[in-house]
Amino acid sequence: MARILIIYSTTDGHTREICLRLKQIVEARNNQVTLVSVDDVTTDLNAFDKIVIGASIRYGKHSKQIYEFIKANQPVLDSRPNAFFSVNVVARKPEKRNPETNPYLRKFLRQITWKPGQLAVFAGKIEYQKYRYRDRVIIRLIMWMTNGPTDPETNIDYTDWDQVAEFGQVIDEMK
Ligand SMILES: Cc1cc2nc3c(=O)[nH]c(=O)nc-3n(C[C@H](O)[C@H](O)[C@H](O)COP(=O)(O)O)c2cc1C
Repeated sequence: MARILIIYSTTDGHTREICLRLKQIVEARNNQVTLVSVDDVTTDLNAFDKIVIGASIRYGKHSKQIYEFIKANQPVLDSRPNAFFSVNVVARKPEKRNPETNPYLRKFLRQITWKPGQLAVFAGKIEYQKYRYRDRVIIRLIMWMTNGPTDPETNIDYTDWDQVAEFGQVIDEMK
């Protein structure tokens, strides 16, 4: 049994949903998973056998806290099996949904010195009614420009949950 820490950064809760599903999959394979927001990490990372970090994209970037956390903890991350995944809606297009082709993940990896052992990109969610007025206008405009949904009632989960389950297996098997 491995003790696995999953750290996440989310704004609207979707990355946390993905982490909850990963926790379910990984625990069904006889591991113990602790899930914690990057804003609340107080536990000693050395207490875990594997560490996974997941973060969503907002206006082209992962959160500042994720960069800071990785920078502050890279030696611990490097010392055990580790993984990173990004959540964004560009990944709703299958050709932009893998670590080699997703522009946000590519850029992120160029900006940090940590080289995650495993990588994944998951498509996120669009739920206009949840967004502040300004965000709703901007995201609808971006969607209009990229052939996405513009109906203000849109509530679409683009996540491929089978892909999430497969990544759960990867986490279980990573050494
Ligand atoms: C204000 C805002 C900005 C966003 N910016 C981007 C973006 O630049 N590129 C992208 O692919 N997705 C973008 N998204 C989509 C989010 O990555 C997607 O909704 C994801 O599911 C959010 O996950 P979270 O709830 O864990 O934060 C944006 C969403 C919002 C609400």
